[in-house]
Formats: sequence, structure tokens, C-alpha cells
Amino acid sequence: MSDEAASLEDSASDPLRRRLVFGGGLTAGVALAGAAAAQQRTDVEPRVFDGHPVPEPPADRSAGPVRPGRGSMLQGKTAVVTGAARGIGRAIAVEFAANGADVVALDIAGPVSTASNAKPATPEDLVETVRQIHAYGRRGEAVQADIRDINALRRIADQVEASHGKIDIVVADAAIQRWKPLLEMEDADWRDVIDNNLNGTANTLRAFAPKMVARRRGRIIVLSSMQGKHGTKNAASYSASKWGILGLMKSAAMELGEYDITVNALIPGLVDTPSPATRRGSATPWPSRGSSRRRPPRPSRPGTTALPRCL
Ligand SMILES: NC(=O)c1ccc[n+]([C@@H]2O[C@H](COP(=O)([O-])OP(=O)(O)OC[C@H]3O[C@@H](n4cnc5c(N)ncnc54)[C@H](O)[C@@H]3O)[C@@H](O)[C@H]2O)c1
Repeated sequence: MSDEAASLEDSASDPLRRRLVFGGGLTAGVALAGAAAAQQRTDVEPRVFDGHPVPEPPADRSAGPVRPGRGSMLQGKTAVVTGAARGIGRAIAVEFAANGADVVALDIAGPVSTASNAKPATPEDLVETVRQIHAYGRRGEAVQADIRDINALRRIADQVEASHGKIDIVVADAAIQRWKPLLEMEDADWRDVIDNNLNGTANTLRAFAPKMVARRRGRIIVLSSMQGKHGTKNAASYSASKWGILGLMKSAAMELGEYDITVNALIPGLVDTPSPATRRGSATPWPSRGSSRRRPPRPSRPGTTALPRCL
């Protein structure tokens, strides 16, 4: 285990310490020249879906691997990204770093609920995200925290502001998915998905947006899903949570717009991540039998095409 991973574990086991773990601090200039020249993949999982290689999306449908210098003017910005240990959250965090932002990568990096079908992210996953941020010469910090704990998020917001001087961008990405028919759900299958995804996203906004209001500027991006735009057979709690996030986004945009803070939502289709939405071989596969879809849609690689439009 690396020193950073050990540090994360130490922090997680000490309740008196704030669950803020600095994964290396300022590393400006380190390896930047080499990393900047190359495109970089953020995923380390096998690229196989249903026994076949995952197809690459066509160029007009994807931003492709992380690439520096997209011209999105992130130089000197401070971003907080939840759910950053892996998947889409990691791709966003590293893309931000590749384009000049310092990034606080926040994740529970452990089990979330019995109502999550995904294998838990690990402290090592979070350390890997920070390693990739550092590879672009940006300041990157790992914060192990649960978005359901608003008091913890408020303490982290204070800490980030004290340490960085400001918070420019917040991406509320952390979520879980549950595949189960509505009438077979245990209470936790409904309650925990709503609590984690919808309440946790609202907590993220309520904890970090006050820092932006004080400066009268900021950019907030929440993660919804195509499953929040239409119903999903056998995933009602997830769909409802992602639908709710759109209501949260639109309402927050009206309130925070007065302070020059924009609030937008990303609405991905299937993206090939450890999330069980895309993993047919996982404990709860895509419900093809009886589903309105005859076969699961083919996932795309994590990409960030829509991000510049939100910034
Ligand atoms: N993968 C897809 O096909 C897809 C499609 C549409 C929308 N999305 C959305 O994109 C976002 C990322 O999805 P992904 O596929 O990368 O998922 P993922 O499971 O790979 O990553 C989610 C991350 O969120 C973290 N997390 C979950 N609950 C948390 C909590 N309470 N506190 C802190 N961290 C927590 C997990 O530890 C994990 O690292 C989610 O909001 C998801 O709903 C994904």
C-alpha cells in the first residue's frame, strides 16, 4: 500500500481528525511536460462488455480520453468533485486537472449501502485519482467523506476554502444504483438510493454553494441520468432520484443565478464504469428479461464532452 493509501486509512480510522486527507499538496510542474503531451485514460478496469470489447464511440459523440488544453479556461480554478474515486467522477476530476484546475477529489471510498449493486470503491481508487491529477502538475487532494453527512461536508467546505482561498466549481457526481422490481424492494432499496443520490446531492449544494454565494460566482454541475428523463423498469428508486436531481438543479439555478452561480446537469447515457448499470456480469445484471429494452444498450467510454458547456 502506498503512503497516501495508508494515510487515507489512518484518517478514516481516527474520528477526531477531519476526514480530509491531503494527497500530496502542491506538485506544480511535476511530470507536466510528459503528461501534457499525451492523452490519458482514467479507467483502469477491463474494457470488456458482455464478453466483447467495449466499442469506442465515434469522434463526434465523444471528447475521447482526457486531453489537456481544450481551452476551457480552468487555469487557477479550484474544483470539488464528489464520487471522484473512479468512473465518471474520476474522469471529470482528471479532465479538470489536465486543463488547469486544482481538484479536491471527494469520495466515501468504501461501502455505501446494501442497496448498491456496485462493488465499493476503495481508498486505493481515490489515491489513484489524485495520482492522475498530480500527473498534470495540479494540486490534488483526496477527501474521504460521505455526502449523506452534511455536517462533514460543511466542515470540508470550510477547510477547502481556508486551504485554497475559494471554491470555483462543484461537481456532485456521487451516487449508487439499485436494480430491483418496485414491489420486491426492501425499504433500504428505496430509501437508501433516494437518500444517497438525491439528499446527498442536495447536501453537496447546501454545503458548498454558500462559499460561492459569498464570492458571487461559481459553477455547479450535478449528475442526473437518462434514467432521470424516462422511467426505468426495475430501477424505480434510481430513476426517481435522478429525476429529483433535475428538479433540484432547476430550482437551485433560479435561486443561485442571482449570485452569478450557474447550476447545470449532466445527463449521461450508459457509460462503461464499475457501476452495475453497465455490467451484465455483475450481481444484478441489466434486466433484459421483461425489460422494455430487448438488450442492454452498449456503453460508451467515460467522456466529458458536455463539460465545457457547463463551465
Ligand atoms: N455509468 C453510467 O452508465 C451512468 C449513466 C448515467 C448517469 N450516471 C451517473 O454518473 C455518476 C457516476 O457514475 P459512475 O458510473 O461513475 O459510478 P461509480 O459507481 O463508478 O462511481 C460512483 C462513485 O460515487 C461514490 N459514492 C457513492 N455514494 C457516495 C457517498 N454517499 N459519499 C461519497 N461518495 C459516494 C462511490 O464510492 C463511487 O466511487 C452517478 O451520479 C451516476 O448515477 C452514470
